[in-house]
Amino acid sequence: MQNSYIINTHSHVNTLKQTPIDQALANAKEKNISIIVPSSSNDDMFEVDEFVKQNDGIYGYVGVYPEFAKDFSDKTLLNMESIIKNNPKIIGIGEVGLDFYWDKSFADIQKEVFIKQIKFANELNLPLNIHCRDAYFDTLEILKKYNKNSNAIMHCFSGSFEFAKECIKLGIYISIGGVVTFKNAVKLKEVAKNIPLEYMLLETDDPYLTPVPYRGKENQPSYVTYVCDEIANLRNTSSEIVANATKTNTLKIFGR
Ligand code: NI
Repeated sequence: MQNSYIINTHSHVNTLKQTPIDQALANAKEKNISIIVPSSSNDDMFEVDEFVKQNDGIYGYVGVYPEFAKDFSDKTLLNMESIIKNNPKIIGIGEVGLDFYWDKSFADIQKEVFIKQIKFANELNLPLNIHCRDAYFDTLEILKKYNKNSNAIMHCFSGSFEFAKECIKLGIYISIGGVVTFKNAVKLKEVAKNIPLEYMLLETDDPYLTPVPYRGKENQPSYVTYVCDEIANLRNTSSEIVANATKTNTLKIFGR
């Protein structure tokens, strides 16, 4: 990771449908981009484990996404533990968190599973990659109360500048994705322009949320350069400065 141009902290490159995965990986390699791939479910953490073992410059997270919180069990934690023990390229817990946008009917289960995974990350002293959608207040309350020692990343940040400041007060990092390139993303542009670079990370969350100029097509990890360029533009600085600062933050978070 140290020698890469950019570290993309959240890419589901293993799930691309329209772009051949080998091609997407080659494109990322050509631009010297390292990638961290999140897990989302009980099954897919094993796929991520295999995928990162097979590919250079690719790292992974294990965790259960809020949508699948009902599937989470003690067995899940045992599986996560054994994957981490056996694969040094699994470097964090994610994506975990709360999503009240699609379905709020099992909010309590989502919270319970989020807390369990925070405690687990704390035990192993691993960073947390957090999915938070329409659950800003609850996510922060839970982190305040339960997170003791894990670095936390708000992935694909979608909150206001005010919320970003609240996060930063707690030492939480803000990861910015392709939405920042959209013309109408006024709130996110404000965040990208004004938060301290020391708290910023870059990602794509591909295959979703493709940045301009490829909006409408399938996203891929190398497009993180468009995210970086847009942020540099907004801040009136160079892409190299944004790439380098976000890389330094990522290396610090992951203890590398
Ligand atoms: Ni994701």
